[in-house]
Amino acid sequence: MPSPLQRIIELRNELNRHNHNYYVLNAPTITDKEFDEMLKELERLEAEHPEFFDPLSPTQRVGSDINKSFEQIAHIYPMLSLGNTYSVEEVDEFVSRTRAALMGEEVTIVGEMKFDGTSISLIYEDGRLVRAVTRGDGVKGDVVTENVKTIRSIPLQLQGDGWPRQFEIRGEIVLPWAEFDRLNREREFNEEPLFANPRNAASGTLKMQNSAEVARRGLDAYFYYLLSDELPFDNHYDNMMAVKSWGFKVSSVMTRLHSIDEVDKFISHWDVARKELPVATDGLVFKVNSLRQQLNLGSTAKSPRWAIAYKFQAERALTRLDFVSFEVGRTGVVTPVANLDPVLLSGTIVKRASLHNEDIIKSLDIHERDMLYVEKGGEIIPKITGVDLGRRQSGSEPVRFVTSCPACGTRLVRVEGEAAWMCPNKYGCPPQIAGRIEHFVGRRMMNIDGIGEETAALLYKAGLVNNVADLYSLTREKLMTLARFGKRSSERIIEGLEASKSVPFECVVYALSIPYVGETVAKKLARAVGDIDNLMSMSADELMSIEDIGERIANSIIEYFETPLNRRIIERLRNAGLQMSMPEDTDEGQSDLLAGKSIVISGTFSHHSRDQYKEMIERNGGKNVASISKKTDFILAGENMGPSKLEKAQKLGIPIISEDQFLSLLQPQ
Ligand code: IVH
Repeated sequence: MPSPLQRIIELRNELNRHNHNYYVLNAPTITDKEFDEMLKELERLEAEHPEFFDPLSPTQRVGSDINKSFEQIAHIYPMLSLGNTYSVEEVDEFVSRTRAALMGEEVTIVGEMKFDGTSISLIYEDGRLVRAVTRGDGVKGDVVTENVKTIRSIPLQLQGDGWPRQFEIRGEIVLPWAEFDRLNREREFNEEPLFANPRNAASGTLKMQNSAEVARRGLDAYFYYLLSDELPFDNHYDNMMAVKSWGFKVSSVMTRLHSIDEVDKFISHWDVARKELPVATDGLVFKVNSLRQQLNLGSTAKSPRWAIAYKFQAERALTRLDFVSFEVGRTGVVTPVANLDPVLLSGTIVKRASLHNEDIIKSLDIHERDMLYVEKGGEIIPKITGVDLGRRQSGSEPVRFVTSCPACGTRLVRVEGEAAWMCPNKYGCPPQIAGRIEHFVGRRMMNIDGIGEETAALLYKAGLVNNVADLYSLTREKLMTLARFGKRSSERIIEGLEASKSVPFECVVYALSIPYVGETVAKKLARAVGDIDNLMSMSADELMSIEDIGERIANSIIEYFETPLNRRIIERLRNAGLQMSMPEDTDEGQSDLLAGKSIVISGTFSHHSRDQYKEMIERNGGKNVASISKKTDFILAGENMGPSKLEKAQKLGIPIISEDQFLSLLQPQ
C-alpha cells in the first residue's frame, strides 16, 4: 500500500498527464469517467490530509467565487508590441532589411499565427507556475493567477526536463470559436449583451472576479515567446519545441522559412487556411530565429526590430447608405443606425449597422447617400469603418443627428459626460414605455411565461398594458379580445403572471428599469436595503454607503421614487402580491454543532466566500475569531493559508480543517 502522500503525488502526476493529453494534445487515453474517478479520489485524500495541500494540485483548477480586485505588478521584461504590415511586399522588405542590418548573413525566419486573444505572461520557478500577469500597459499588469489556473491546457507543474529554474513564457489566451458561439448562445438566452468577438470575450473573461465562472468559459492558450537568463537553445524555434515538450500548447503552424519565396508562400497559404483553425487569428507573425541575430537587431521603445506582424485584410464591402434611422430604446438613448443597400459580407447579408452615437457619425464624416465601407474582420457584428470619398455625390449634406425624439417629438438632451443623446420624456415616449414592459417580463427579471418581447409590445400597442402594473390587471377575457390569443395562450399568460409573484425581491428591483440599476447593482441594493420601503425612503448618502453605488446611481434611484407614477406602480405591484422584501431569515441551516467553538478562518476558498463561512460558523453556534491562540479550537483553512499562521497552528497543535471537511462536519448526520 502506498502512503497517502505517495498516492496523492501519484494521482496529481497522472491527472496532470491526462489533462495535457486531453487539452494540449487532443488525444485522451482514458475516459472522462476514469478521469473523474481519479480526481474524486484525490479530492478525498486531500480533504483527509490538509497538511499535503498544494495550490497547484489538479483539484485546484475549479476556481472560486471570492471577489477580490487584482493586484498589479511590474513585468520583469516589458511587454512590447509588434510593428504591423498589411502586404506581402512590406513583409519582404522586413526580411531584406534584417539581412542588410546583419551584414548579409543568412537569416532564418519563423512564421507563426497571430492569435487574436489577450496576451499573458506566466512566471515559472522550479517547474511550477508561480504567477500569471496580463499585459496591462506593457510595463505593469494585473495578477490573474487564479483565473489562469482554471485553463486546463496550461501546465501548473511542468513535464519533461531541461527547463530553466526560473523563466517567463508569453502567449495568447483565446476563446475558441466553438466556446465563443456556445457562450453567446447562452447569453442570448439569458438576455445578456453578446460579445462582439472572441478577443473581447477572452479579455473580459480573464478579468472576471469569479474564477469559478472563468473555469466554465472554456478558455485556451497558445504560447510563442520564452524569456530567461538561461535559455536551453540559441534559437527561437528550438526553444518553442522545448516549451512544447514541457507541456505548453505551441501552435503547429509554426514553421522555419529560409527564403523570401518561402515567406510569401506561407502568407498565401495561411491567408486562406486560417479560416479552418479552431481559434480566431488576425494575422501572422514573422520572427528572426537566431537569438544572437535578435540581440544584434535590438528593439525600439515600442517593438522589437527582429519581428513583425502581417495583418490579414479584414473582410470588407462597399455599399450605399440609404438613410440613417434613429431608434429609441428602453432607457431613452437614441441610437443612429445606417440602413444600407444589402451587401454580402463573410457569408451573411448586411442591411443595417449601428453607428452608435453622434461622435462616430461626425468623425467618419458621413454624408447622405455616401458609399460606406462595412467590415467584419474579427468582429461578428458589422461595423462602418469609412467612406469612399471619391464616390460622394456632389452637394450631398452631412448626416445630421436628430434634435427631437423620432418617436414622441420631445427635444433631445445630451447626457452629461457621454456621447449619447436621450429623449427625456420617460413616461410618455412609446418605445421607452414598451421597452420597460418588455424588460419587466424578461427571463432574468419577472420571467413571465407566455409573454416574450413581441407579446409585451403587442399588449402595449393594443392599449391593454400601459405600465408594468397593468400586467397584473389582465384577465383571460381581456386577453381573448385580441386576435392573437386563444383560450389556451391566455390562460398560460395568467398562470405566468401568477407564478411571477414568487420571483425574489432582487429580481423585482432589477425588473423595475430604474436607470443605471443593472442586474448586479439590483442584487446588491436588494440585499442591502431588505425591502422596498427602505429603498424608497433612503437618502443619497445612505444609498452611497452601499458597495458599488455611486452618486449617479443614487440620484437615479431617488429620482425614480420621487416620480408619483412610479410610486403608484409600486403600490399596485405590492397589492398584486409581488415580493417586496428579502425573505426573512429562517431557522434553516441553524444548529449548535459548533457551540462554544472558537474558529479561525485563513486562506481563500472555492465553494463559498469567506463571509459565507463566517456566517455558517455563527449560525451553527461557533465564534469566528481573528487570530490563533491556545483557545482556538480549529482553523478552517483554504488555499494559501498564511505561513505564519500555519507555523503558529503547528506549534500550538491546533487542528487545521479543509473546506470540504468543514462542510461535511455541518452535514446533518
Ligand atoms: S510575439 C516581442 N507572437 O500580438 C514580441 N505575439 O502586437 C512579442 N500575438 O502583444 C510578441 N500572436 O498579444 C507574438 N505568435 C505571436 C502572437 C503574438 C499574437 C499578440 C501578442 C502581442 C501582440 C503584438
